[in-house]
Amino acid sequence: MASQLDLALIILTVALPLLYFFRESIPFIGGKPLGSSNGAGVGGQNGAGVGAGGKGNAAVDEGDPRDFVGKMERANKRCVIFYGSQTGTAEEYAIRIAKEAKSRFGISSLVCDPEEYDMNLLDQVPETSVVIFVMATYGEGEPTDNANALMEMLNETEPAFSEGGDRLENLNYVVFGLGNKTYEFYNEVARKLDKRLGELGAKRIGDRGEGDDDKSMEEDYLAWKDPMWEQFAQRLGVEEGGAGDVADFVVTEITDHPAEKVYHGELSPRALMAASGQNTPVGAYGLKNPYPAPVLASKELFAVNGERNCVHIEFDLTGSGMSYQHGDHVGIWPSNPDVEVDRMLSVLGLDSEGRRNAIIDIESLDPALAKVPFPTPATYDAVFRHYLDISAVASRQTIAFLARYAPNDAAKEKLTIWGSDRNAYAQEVDGPALKLAEVLQAAVGDSAHPPFNSTRWSIPFDRIVSSVPRLQPRYYSISSSSKLHPSALHVTAVVLKYQSTASPFHHHEPRWVFGLSTNFILNVKMAHSGQNSPALESENGLEAVTMKKLPSYKIAGPRNNYVKENVYKVPIHVRRSTFRLPTSPKVPIIMIGPGTGVAPFRGFVQERVALARKAIEKNGPDALKDWAPMYLFYGCRKSTEDFLYKDEWPDYEKELKGVFRMKTAFSREMTKPDGSKVYVQDLIHGMRSELAPLILEKRAYIYICGDAKSMSKSVEEKLMNMLAEAKGGKPEVEGAKELKMLKERNRLMTDVWS
Ligand SMILES: Cc1cc2nc3c(=O)[nH]c(=O)nc-3n(C[C@H](O)[C@H](O)[C@H](O)COP(=O)(O)OP(=O)(O)OC[C@H]3O[C@@H](n4cnc5c(N)ncnc54)[C@H](O)[C@@H]3O)c2cc1C
Ligand SMILES: NC(=O)c1ccc[n+]([C@@H]2O[C@H](COP(=O)([O-])OP(=O)(O)OC[C@H]3O[C@@H](n4cnc5c(N)ncnc54)[C@H](OP(=O)(O)O)[C@@H]3O)[C@@H](O)[C@H]2O)c1
Ligand SMILES: Cc1cc2nc3c(=O)[nH]c(=O)nc-3n(C[C@H](O)[C@H](O)[C@H](O)COP(=O)(O)O)c2cc1C
Repeated sequence: MASQLDLALIILTVALPLLYFFRESIPFIGGKPLGSSNGAGVGGQNGAGVGAGGKGNAAVDEGDPRDFVGKMERANKRCVIFYGSQTGTAEEYAIRIAKEAKSRFGISSLVCDPEEYDMNLLDQVPETSVVIFVMATYGEGEPTDNANALMEMLNETEPAFSEGGDRLENLNYVVFGLGNKTYEFYNEVARKLDKRLGELGAKRIGDRGEGDDDKSMEEDYLAWKDPMWEQFAQRLGVEEGGAGDVADFVVTEITDHPAEKVYHGELSPRALMAASGQNTPVGAYGLKNPYPAPVLASKELFAVNGERNCVHIEFDLTGSGMSYQHGDHVGIWPSNPDVEVDRMLSVLGLDSEGRRNAIIDIESLDPALAKVPFPTPATYDAVFRHYLDISAVASRQTIAFLARYAPNDAAKEKLTIWGSDRNAYAQEVDGPALKLAEVLQAAVGDSAHPPFNSTRWSIPFDRIVSSVPRLQPRYYSISSSSKLHPSALHVTAVVLKYQSTASPFHHHEPRWVFGLSTNFILNVKMAHSGQNSPALESENGLEAVTMKKLPSYKIAGPRNNYVKENVYKVPIHVRRSTFRLPTSPKVPIIMIGPGTGVAPFRGFVQERVALARKAIEKNGPDALKDWAPMYLFYGCRKSTEDFLYKDEWPDYEKELKGVFRMKTAFSREMTKPDGSKVYVQDLIHGMRSELAPLILEKRAYIYICGDAKSMSKSVEEKLMNMLAEAKGGKPEVEGAKELKMLKERNRLMTDVWS
């Protein structure tokens, strides 16, 4: 038996490290007393006001962490919101719904990732509560990764709920789906979920909402929510007007924080540690800790003096522990351009050197409802440069919300109109593509052009944090093969620039709008390669985009850590996909990828080149004799202008010894007998007698990549016609059946975007 001395030693050994670890939060050994701050509690007169209220102190929840019903009971919540989200939009809408439940009725909610909870507890949700599902659809009508298990569980013939039953008679639910009408299976997950919950006896509140990401997500949401809230109030027996506008966060300016612990745009705690020289463990990079990847090479892919830019950029993965396979996606984390950071800081009165570099700490008043969306303490400059999306067109709801902070009645009236009248919003905000700070400038009649000397808006900073979405990474189909380039990852990005309408209040002429991430990549490319950008000519009577007008970015990154001795770095992470080649090269493949849709196919072809080299080395020059054909259908405007990787394909054809066959459609050089353009689907149609047997008899795999709006649909239609003809049937019957079967067997895969 241990002596008393042994026991005392054991206690000391355990307790001392614990005390040290939690020292920051224990007041008597130097931690901050709760509710106090070291900094100034700044009011509106210093620019962006800091929200009122004490610091949040989330109670420790001691129940089973997977039991959401217990959690609701303990925290006195009547509403739980589950989101099925891949890239964050559904999660954002879930949070918006939670905030609205609180501000309208004073009802606080749990916002939950279904993957983190036991969803078979749905049968225990009391009748006085409600479960809200906010669900995105992906692929061929598939759920997001985090909603897979939920959908599988519900779809069982007799779902096994926690109390042994297979019904959900007590459950009140709401569904809002996120989808995109350019995809065939529009909002399929929300529809299936709604149908299934109904079958299980659950009772829906309001209509099912469906948002279309292609055109009208925000408008669809706004049109859906008010009638839903009315029925929500009736079912739950609550009244509107309870809580009003409530703060989610407390923002405190702090003055004595150690400089090395202040975030200047680092994307994770590990990145901050690395900034002060500490090593990051290998394998630690991913979505939650992007890797600042050195740029190995970059170049322009389109012809000089063309209309557009397309950047080829290569990242070095050496030593990162990151890997990828052909067909995977890479997430690129852009920052906001200098002009938008300056504009926002000016509008909020934070543009002086001292103010923009002031340090703020943010705490959530209700962490179950609203997480602090970025790492803190951080500077105002970092928040607007790296963490919040201030470059997107301002949403109608944010505009309506901010009207209350207008510096004068005329501005308030404008914001109220733009925030409530769909047509006014479409004409005066959406068409002219006004960003949030531009909307605020337009409302008071400030100049749109730098240097800014804007009227100050005293918006409490916590409201800015609540209403401006987090800056999201953009995804790109990786355009290389890791077999051919073991430590490099290539991206092929067409630079987005489109024309807005004229704004009656801001810029009075149509202007160029620049895509955030692609122009960030273009900036990196120009700095890395030392080459200017060619495609900045005038178009449609618009003023030419000169180098001066192209938005500039602080590509040196936080603490200038993204550039050292002429090596530039960009934060990236890899996202796995199922867009893969069959393992055997003896299976034929048909790749269809016009424009940047060719990106993953460059990776596919390189993958086969690497395999071919090995096979030839092992089995001699005839090693590819029994390989099946690989077709690539590629289309672009002109052979001399935007033919991506024009010089590489002949080399691949040579190395693959006739296995790889590329077919090209130059839409602005070639015409059909009726005078219309030649597209990839026309090439497919022309080769149908060769392709149909490959699909029907040789079990070929088909891949489509690129534009979801029109190209992928037209291609699928042509495939349907071709298969119907080969089978001697009708496109809408036999053709559709074949196509469905190919999709179910993963022999027709798409990687499309709009
Ligand atoms: C799975 C996947 C793979 C992808 N792969 C690639 C790839 O390999 N290469 C590639 O170049 N891109 C690819 N993309 C697209 C890429 O993710 C970005 O959407 C694209 O680069 C634009 O990003 P941005 O930040 O420059 O533009 P943003 O600043 O995000 O602006 C885009 C937004 O601008 C608006 N918009 C665009 N055009 C117009 C217009 N004409 N009129 C009015 N509004 C308009 C739309 O609202 C659009 O959502 C892929 C997307 C996905 C989902
Ligand atoms: N979300 C974004 O911001 C974003 C960013 C990048 C790309 N995209 C989308 O991705 C698509 C591809 O972009 P990209 O710039 O790489 O391509 P692109 O250069 O615009 O087009 C490539 C080729 O496809 C042709 N094409 C047009 N419509 C077609 C159709 N219905 N069927 C088959 N071919 C068709 C084009 O012909 P013509 O032009 O001569 O008609 C051109 O020859 C764009 O259309 C866009 O919708 C979106
Ligand atoms: C690769 C990809 C596939 C998609 N597939 C579908 C689909 O089949 N049906 C649909 O309605 N929407 C589809 N969408 C649209 C998404 O559901 C929509 O963009 C949604 O807002 C994404 O939400 P999230 O950001 O929470 O993941 C797809 C989007 C992408 C990028």
